[in-house]
Amino acid sequence: MLCEIVDHHGGEATSLLQVLIDVQMRFRCVPAGVMTFLAEILHLPRTQIQAVVEFYSFLSVTSTGRFDVRFSDSVTDQLLGSRDLATRLCQRLGVKLGETRADDAVSVHLTSCTGLSDQGPAALVNGQVLTRLDGDRIVQMADFIDQEIDLDAWPKAWFRVEDQVQLEGLLLAEELPLGACLERAGTLDAVGIISEIDRSGLRGRGGAGFKTAVKWRFCYEGAEGTLPGDPSITRYVVCNADEGEPGTFKDRVLLSRNAHDVFEGMTVCARAIGALRGFLYLRGEYRYLLDTLLKVLEARRSRGLLGRNILGVEGFDFNIEIHLGAGAYICGEESALIESLEGKPGHPRNRPPYPVTCGYLGQPTVVNNVETFVAAARIMAFGADWFLSEGTAQSTGTKMLSVSGDCERPGIYEVPFGTPVSVVMHRCGADDPMGVQVGGPSGTFIGKAEFERILGFEDLSTGGSMMVFSQARDVVAIARGFTHFFAHESCGFCTPCRVGTSLLRQLIDKIAEGHGTPHDLVEMTQLAAIVKNASHCGLGQTAANPLMQTLERFPERYQERLKTTLFEPGFDLDGALEVSRQMTGRADANAHLTQVG
Ligand SMILES: Cc1cc2nc3c(=O)[nH]c(=O)nc-3n(C[C@H](O)[C@H](O)[C@H](O)COP(=O)(O)O)c2cc1C
Ligand code: SF4
Repeated sequence: MLCEIVDHHGGEATSLLQVLIDVQMRFRCVPAGVMTFLAEILHLPRTQIQAVVEFYSFLSVTSTGRFDVRFSDSVTDQLLGSRDLATRLCQRLGVKLGETRADDAVSVHLTSCTGLSDQGPAALVNGQVLTRLDGDRIVQMADFIDQEIDLDAWPKAWFRVEDQVQLEGLLLAEELPLGACLERAGTLDAVGIISEIDRSGLRGRGGAGFKTAVKWRFCYEGAEGTLPGDPSITRYVVCNADEGEPGTFKDRVLLSRNAHDVFEGMTVCARAIGALRGFLYLRGEYRYLLDTLLKVLEARRSRGLLGRNILGVEGFDFNIEIHLGAGAYICGEESALIESLEGKPGHPRNRPPYPVTCGYLGQPTVVNNVETFVAAARIMAFGADWFLSEGTAQSTGTKMLSVSGDCERPGIYEVPFGTPVSVVMHRCGADDPMGVQVGGPSGTFIGKAEFERILGFEDLSTGGSMMVFSQARDVVAIARGFTHFFAHESCGFCTPCRVGTSLLRQLIDKIAEGHGTPHDLVEMTQLAAIVKNASHCGLGQTAANPLMQTLERFPERYQERLKTTLFEPGFDLDGALEVSRQMTGRADANAHLTQVG
């Protein structure tokens, strides 16, 4: 069976993660013997295999339950009561959160945002998504699990994922005729394709907003000393469908309703840069989309759709593979994603060199977001002027927003860049919000006074997440939730982030629980600056944003939590000695310590 899995994934060392994901599914863990076996047949050090298993949260050395339930722990799920539901399920099933029941029947965990914030509380059960959980469903779920009823027999409605497109704009309203973009691309050479994308002003939709044409051109032209488009150089196209930023789900919707457009965009890019191989890196939480996506790819290859292979363009043999992630937010960072594609733990690389010159297997690689490829395909088909008809000078076109939280109509809103936040709030039915987290925890928290700020790279740049919080919400608790997220997702590679995010978590816990002092706020601010300036990648550099931005905008909410004393220890030294006192049978005064400030 193991050989079958390895063969199915091509038998290369780069397929290690894909092999381990299948092993985990079959055995509910990665047994030690399997690691040894894989080390031998993939010619890899066993330590590397162990490191991969330990890195990804969906892989484990100990066995998960026959029913493995993972509750989405995004702040928006928490607002909808997810933690309470998780606790209730654990109580009914007699299992501890984060553990597997003694009879191996069930394990229950919390996991980072599953990309379903518009229809939470959500969870995964054996990798399948459950939406709109409530108390009644939890009771029934517990019964099904106790009776070991197969997931196929659970009510279909529980697994229903809706697209919830509330507002269509340029991209979503216009149908892209199959192959239209490739036909146009087929009439242009690489320079022509890149020029059209350039004229459209398209900037990356993954958050950073790097100009797409510039990225493609760098990759096409190659490093100094090579000829543009040199066919002897192997290049790759990668679609980043990791979508791990909490509150973001627009890529999920694009993959479910516009998969052809995503693949057309990748194919146009491949044609422009001269790549023959592409990857779509699909986050493990979206595994339920895998079969559909594979079928779309197969149909494009099979000539059944237009009487010819439309994965490539005439005379151009391009292929796309889908690789799954395994529950690691950091793998959305492009260099970490490439490491993951190579079958390794997703540690971000040193940059430069950037992926456009040194990416997958050290070769020039373009990494773009799902929405970027969809936009590129349409620009190719309908022309740059069509795209330029909306947006601002610096941010052309539209942006797909994933709106969730305290609003009447959560879902997808595609708006022209330049749209003020107030317009989105009005459309989604958020009457009187206290604030909005724009761009997810790594983005910007804005208060009501800033709702006339505009969405665009010149003001509020965003990968698309917009979490709305009503006046009734506790801003300190929100910032605390985001800080826990970063501390949990830090990949541990560099010290400022690994240690800094944990210390920030401790400080905000202390403040939120009413033990904080003014000194703690000063310490938190100083620490935030260190984590921001000294961290290796974007995760650490933005991890303190939620704390600093909410502290700046809502200082009174922090102040009212503080004790009046100047110093309160963060660690109960005397309490920590209790075990020693019990072991030595001492209870006298000398066996106690007084904390000094
Ligand atoms: C911690 C971290 C997580 C990221 N997650 C994603 C992601 O889930 N999806 C994405 O497209 N870009 C993500 N990015 C940005 C990518 O590194 C990269 O800039 C992007 O995929 C480039 O595509 P674009 O130019 O089309 O935006 C992330 C960056 C960081 C630092
Ligand atoms: S900043 Fe954090 S996530 Fe990024 S490399 Fe360092 S430890 Fe890893």
